[in-house]
Amino acid sequence: MVPMTKAAQTENAQPQIHIKTFDELTTRELHAIYVTRGLVFTVGQKITDQEVDDTDLVCFHLFTQNKEGKVTAYLRMYDLGKYADESHEITPGAWTIGRVAVLDEARGTGLGRRIVAEAIEWIRDNTDAERIEISAQQYLENSLYGKAGFVTEGEPYIEAGIEHVHMNLVLER
Ligand SMILES: CC(C)(COP(=O)(O)OP(=O)(O)OC[C@H]1O[C@@H](n2cnc3c(N)ncnc32)[C@H](O)[C@@H]1OP(=O)(O)O)[C@@H](O)C(=O)NCCC(=O)NCCS
Repeated sequence: MVPMTKAAQTENAQPQIHIKTFDELTTRELHAIYVTRGLVFTVGQKITDQEVDDTDLVCFHLFTQNKEGKVTAYLRMYDLGKYADESHEITPGAWTIGRVAVLDEARGTGLGRRIVAEAIEWIRDNTDAERIEISAQQYLENSLYGKAGFVTEGEPYIEAGIEHVHMNLVLER
């Protein structure tokens, strides 16, 4: 077998996943996160609901960046036992994941699946949450979220003009 060159190894290397509180983010990282969320949700999905919100302040922000510092994949996660938002009431024992976004140019390579798996593992290992509850866009019910172990509860509903389903994953330790 021909050994891989250093360049090929770097090319194939998985981008590092960063997990930070709001206050740990640099201003450049925060800017790059908001650019990507704007591109994915406001420009890409035409969602006109408020994008940047106060929930950002209490979230852990999980993201990858490319060489230029662009955020290629992103999600935020937080404790639903402490904080509610537009999609969730206070729910003791549960955390949630939201704003799951992969930049157009980085899609279709497993990055979305990787960040969701990383978030599940991080919540399991770093909190005492019993489960993760999400408001998921329905087109991902059987792929991204279903394959990660989330189970649908109840009927689909419209949120931000898009079909959503409530999904739940019980954490096993
Ligand atoms: C959804 C999103 C994060 C997926 O990112 P990605 O890196 O392309 O995803 P992956 O390559 O890891 O694929 C993971 C799974 O999602 C599925 N998926 C990705 N895009 C899809 C689409 N448009 N329709 C249906 N399934 C899709 C893949 O097929 C794969 O499932 P499979 O294993 O059954 O094939 C990305 O397309 C995105 O940012 N979309 C717009 C924002 C959005 O919808 N966010 C989710 C909010 S709940």
